[in-house]
Amino acid sequence: MDYVVAIDQGTTSTRAIVFDRAGRPVATGQLEHRQVFPRPGWVEHDPMEIWANTREAIGQALAKADITRHDVAAIGITNQRETAVVWDRVTGRPIANAIVWQDTRTQGMVDELAAEGGTDRFADVTGLPLATYFSATKIAWILDSVEGARERAEAGELLFGTTDTWVLWNLTGGAGGRGGAGAGVHVTDVTNASRTLLMDLRTLDWDDELLAAFAIPRAMLPEIRSSSEVYGHAGTRSLLRETPIAGILGDQQAATFGQAAFERGESKNTYGTGNFLIFQTGEEIVRSRNGLITTVAYKLGDEAPRYALEGSIAVTGSLIQWLRDNLGIIRTSPEVEQLAATVEDNGGVYIVPAFSGLFAPYWRPDARGAILGLTRYANKGHIARAALESVAFQTREVLDAVAADAGIGLEELRVDGGMVANDALMQFQADILGVPVLRPEVTETTALGAAYAAGLAVGFWDSLDELRALWREDRRWEPAMAASDREARLARWKDAVTRTFDWER
Ligand code: G3P
Repeated sequence: MDYVVAIDQGTTSTRAIVFDRAGRPVATGQLEHRQVFPRPGWVEHDPMEIWANTREAIGQALAKADITRHDVAAIGITNQRETAVVWDRVTGRPIANAIVWQDTRTQGMVDELAAEGGTDRFADVTGLPLATYFSATKIAWILDSVEGARERAEAGELLFGTTDTWVLWNLTGGAGGRGGAGAGVHVTDVTNASRTLLMDLRTLDWDDELLAAFAIPRAMLPEIRSSSEVYGHAGTRSLLRETPIAGILGDQQAATFGQAAFERGESKNTYGTGNFLIFQTGEEIVRSRNGLITTVAYKLGDEAPRYALEGSIAVTGSLIQWLRDNLGIIRTSPEVEQLAATVEDNGGVYIVPAFSGLFAPYWRPDARGAILGLTRYANKGHIARAALESVAFQTREVLDAVAADAGIGLEELRVDGGMVANDALMQFQADILGVPVLRPEVTETTALGAAYAAGLAVGFWDSLDELRALWREDRRWEPAMAASDREARLARWKDAVTRTFDWER
């Protein structure tokens, strides 16, 4: 068996990637799913569509690689985090659309809970501020709005999962067909559980006080396991039947693992729908004083968990999609690079993409997006440029928070994700950070990390050292901007950010 298959259930698409022993992607299957926006601030996915796409993506990847299940040693799963699915254990059908991590409909609930003890009231236990971003209020919202749901959840008839759990449960047999034999394995891993606002970071178990505060019945929650162990085997109706599913990591933690950032002080920044910078703190739980969250980085089997600080930025790649879909100034996302290159600089234009409020390091749900500095001179090239620059500025602010919390600045930044193909953005990123930016040969680090976790569990790979040796640099961007220029632009950006506050009251 020469391959491991990783399933990456992301915010906009689901992919299956076949990796070989050298950690190289051999073939990919990919399908996008619908983004459902029923009202401003609401973002939903259809879980059945996601599951159908997962099956199809696996089929595509196996066909392209020209292999069968007999060639596959293990399956790893990685996923968009926090997004909440609630489904019926017997029929296997969701009782509502999944509520996506970007969805802000539960702000009222968050405000009510924060009235007593503030937004940091659960931070000590969970590492997280109270925010709509995390799963707890999304689950509560579904239980409150679907008739009879809370009673059914208490009776053990309904199950909750983030999309790793949804995919795992279905892949292992789900409801089990007619009669509902209930083969589906209902499990999540520590990294995903750490994003729910329901798990105690120290015990790695669901916390009864938190469950009571959000009125969520324990009976509906999956069992929390490590990130690398055999959870179950693919069911008889899967092309990969009998293959062990042996790794689960939330997508940002998976990318960190795929970048071989296994040790304290190592980090990565992923440019996806949003940007997520993860800074490993080893076995120590570090509390941020600068707007970062504390999360689990990974846990291998029975070994001690590794923790991390994370800077989560809600809108980066999705701003480029917005230029494409809502403004129509580009036809495809990569075109943003050409459009931005039609102008010499941003022409004084700044975009603050506070579509879901602002996440790290500000955590301002009241902020809303703004384009500032418009003059009659500004054109769509400036808008494209300002959009790209906003990605780099937001990353710089998160890096500053990491440096302040850790007491040391990063010497370089390892990057991955779709937008790192954009050379102009990467150069600007290095310029604005003042440190080199490094891109690995394999930029599919999210899927790679899940493949690594699964491969380690079944002995396909033997050690972290072996995986570290597979990391190869592809390209490096050195900072070239004068410090005075950098600081002037940054000051302008920060000014722009503060002007978006207090918009949504
Ligand atoms: O926390 C949300 C994050 O996991 C989503 O990642 O890559 O699907 O945008 P992505």
